[in-house]
Amino acid sequence: MPSKKPVIAVVGGAGYIGSHTAKLLFEKGFSPVIIDNFSTGHHDFIQWGTFYTCCLSDQESLTSLLKKINPVAVFHFAASINVSESVIDPELYYHNNVNGTLNLLSSMRKANISNLIFSSTAAIYGHPESNLILESHPCRPINPYGQSKYMMEHIIKDFHEAYGLNYIIFRYFNAAGADHDHLIGEDHSPETHLIPNILMAASGVKPTLTVFGNNYDTPDGTCIRDYIHVSDLALAHVLGLNYLLDAKQSHCMNLGTSQGLSILELIKQAEIITRTSIAYKFYERRSGDASILVADASFAQSLLDWEPQHSSIDTILNTSWKWFQSRFHV
Ligand SMILES: NC(=O)c1ccc[n+]([C@@H]2O[C@H](COP(=O)([O-])OP(=O)(O)OC[C@H]3O[C@@H](n4cnc5c(N)ncnc54)[C@H](O)[C@@H]3O)[C@@H](O)[C@H]2O)c1
Repeated sequence: MPSKKPVIAVVGGAGYIGSHTAKLLFEKGFSPVIIDNFSTGHHDFIQWGTFYTCCLSDQESLTSLLKKINPVAVFHFAASINVSESVIDPELYYHNNVNGTLNLLSSMRKANISNLIFSSTAAIYGHPESNLILESHPCRPINPYGQSKYMMEHIIKDFHEAYGLNYIIFRYFNAAGADHDHLIGEDHSPETHLIPNILMAASGVKPTLTVFGNNYDTPDGTCIRDYIHVSDLALAHVLGLNYLLDAKQSHCMNLGTSQGLSILELIKQAEIITRTSIAYKFYERRSGDASILVADASFAQSLLDWEPQHSSIDTILNTSWKWFQSRFHV
């Protein structure tokens, strides 16, 4: 008799990070079941496991679905993620992210599922007080997106205290790169993330790249970020799952590389990888952007024995570029 593979509910698994994680779960012998409302997700990103169309706002359907598939854990990637949009329309962010998470946790309680891995973000820290950000750094989000994620963290921690929910909260820094087989990658619409926008300018899909702000307190005046390959994020999730199932201890941890790169440094490197000259223009700062966000990810590294394998800037840009070329036929 073949052994039954443990089922993992991947909520938001039709999106960028969720789909890469579903792929790795499948490769590691789990059975991912994707739950998504396809608001920003893609049907063709679902290649590993089955899927159900369901929105976090529909708690009744969500509860029956979770009872039916009976997963050992829920991975929660589903959220609205655009910082600028959250400043213009915070209501959307609090509804989809905060209410949606509360509904999901209530459904998990009703279905007796007690393990959660949650996607949080470096955006909860706000303006950094140190070069490397530890998990103990004060959390003072500077935009509604970051606020919504911080509220979600609080709700999860309260469910842990009151109802025994086991959780791992991963605070990602900048997710980047694409699957090494070029089957899935980053495709948001509108695309606000830097690397896809650099590649649009490199390929002529967009005439120029807009760089928001050149007067930040950084050596070249542009924002510094910590880029972590999406496949390294996926690996952390699988290691986190194994840890959660074995140790049943709940933790919150950063996922990043501890290396910062400025926008201008990234453009320069992208010009080498794409063998093009990338036209860019400066525009005023975007509301809600911190100048520098770089992780101290030593806690995740030691607790989970996790080491980023794919997060050199060359690998990130190479995989992104190959994916971009195959996706958009450029
Ligand atoms: N991309 C990054 O750099 C980054 C950085 C830090 C944190 N995060 C977090 O990681 C998670 C995944 O990000 P991503 O880049 O893959 O985003 P994404 O937009 O590609 O994926 C999100 C998925 O969730 C689904 N979804 C959204 N609202 C839903 C709802 N109400 N019900 C059901 N499904 C819903 C979308 O259809 C989509 O498939 C998010 O929670 C985001 O806040 C992302």
